[in-house]
Amino acid sequence: MARTRSRRRVRRFIEPMNHLYDSHRDIRHFLAVIADALQQTGGAALTPTQWYDLAVAIIYFETEAVTHTADEEKSVFPRLRASRDTAARVMVHQIAKLKREHREAGRRLRAVNALLRRWLANGALQATDARYLRRHVTAVQAIFTRHFACEDEELFPLARRIFSMHQIREIEQEMVARRTGGAHPQLF
Ligand SMILES: [Fe+2]
Ligand SMILES: [Fe+2]
Repeated sequence: MARTRSRRRVRRFIEPMNHLYDSHRDIRHFLAVIADALQQTGGAALTPTQWYDLAVAIIYFETEAVTHTADEEKSVFPRLRASRDTAARVMVHQIAKLKREHREAGRRLRAVNALLRRWLANGALQATDARYLRRHVTAVQAIFTRHFACEDEELFPLARRIFSMHQIREIEQEMVARRTGGAHPQLF
């Protein structure tokens, strides 16, 4: 009985943090989808499969990727900043850097989505737009390579170590609320 309860406690403890790890994998995947489409077509006509994959990427970056940033900035970062744990105090300046990277990546991803929408609507991109798109995608991939490394290897393990069960449950509830209260985006 004690063993079952203990397992349940562990499972509940890691689930919201696991979701944050999984989102990093998904973000990397959708950036690679865009980079591959660019590489294969140079911004010219897309196959139906490529068109569909890019449409899914647009929706992902306008919904789940934005919510992922909110999960970190509204649920995880403030609790780390409020912690008296020594390692969390050391992490405060890293959190400020992570927030700046969110702003920079967000700005570039909005540009990526605008260019993707133009590509899907017009059937092809002008050479200049294809260049901008490639530049933004490459820059976001570079930002996220170091950003995710910091979160996956330092920040999330620290959060797992110092957050109480109560805090984890609060984070879980906040993450669910963010995903059940919003409207769905319109592609066109
Ligand atoms: Fe982040
Ligand atoms: Fe993240």
